Amino acid sequence: MARVFSGIQPTGDLHLGNYLGAVRRWAAEQHEHDAIHCVVDLHALTIPRDPAELRAKTNEVTLLLVAAGLDPQAMILFAQSHVPEHTELAWVMECTASHGELSRMVQFKEKSKQAAHVSAGLFTYPALQAADVLLYDTEEVPVGDDQRQHIELARDLAERFNGRYGPTFVVPKHTIPPVGARIMDLQEPTKKMSKSLDSPQGTILVLDDPKAIERKIKRAVTDSDGEVRYDITEKPGLANLLSILAAVTDEQPEAVAEKYTQYGPLKADAAAAVVEALRPLQERYAELAADPGAADAILRTGAEKARAIATPKMAQVRDAVGLTSRH
Ligand code: TRP
Repeated sequence: MARVFSGIQPTGDLHLGNYLGAVRRWAAEQHEHDAIHCVVDLHALTIPRDPAELRAKTNEVTLLLVAAGLDPQAMILFAQSHVPEHTELAWVMECTASHGELSRMVQFKEKSKQAAHVSAGLFTYPALQAADVLLYDTEEVPVGDDQRQHIELARDLAERFNGRYGPTFVVPKHTIPPVGARIMDLQEPTKKMSKSLDSPQGTILVLDDPKAIERKIKRAVTDSDGEVRYDITEKPGLANLLSILAAVTDEQPEAVAEKYTQYGPLKADAAAAVVEALRPLQERYAELAADPGAADAILRTGAEKARAIATPKMAQVRDAVGLTSRH
């Protein structure tokens, strides 16, 4: 089984686009891969965060992933900061990467334009990300196209390190996740649904209650020609509703379109179907969240399993570069 690693930031809220586009598939495929999912709390620190909120979000995303069906017995689910080898290897990666290489990272260029305070951590972020992946002899990193450059860098760093110090790291592959449902913002249907707070009415959060889901879908932007057909360019709002309904009922949007002649009933059915699709996740989340120690327990188990892999790998790195033994 291929070792697959992915990182998820504990910031913002998990929304329907995350769930239908990625998380649902992680759960479905967890027995086909040797899967590691890491809540990257250290990466979240590259931008100043409210401490209480970071803590709460770390726990929330952990419980949400489990509520969505990830089985912490079958895979590894842990918090990045619980495995100190991540920061330890990140330093070695910072010393392997060049300043020029990190300066060329598109995500850094974009984020540093927006930030009032550009932390050094924002600059070295991709070195930490490379450490995340390389610590576990990861073979595949299934992340969106926006992360391609970071994974390319991780590959370059692995090869450079192996060249300098001898074979140490597996060179990971960036795999494009199969196109899950492409879920757009309900108010601006040409933009992807996103967790930024700019468009709360356009984003369905996985923990939204049924009333909120119904309201958001009812008010979703469509068009005025009144014809139900699946056309992403001419009718992006309607196409999005068809995609959502199709994704939750496991059908094709074109086929769903044929069942409707009016927008109202389509919206009503889409809302009802989303409510039903999220119900098991919400129920499971409520059960888990009722125990204040649940996230801690899950993350503790995950960190033990992760360290069993990361500690010997880091010992190998220390030895390779010439750091003396601490034992
Ligand atoms: N940078 C990734 C993102 O913003 C998150 C991430 C951190 C990650 N470490 C990773 C993804 C390792 C894949 C592998 O989405």
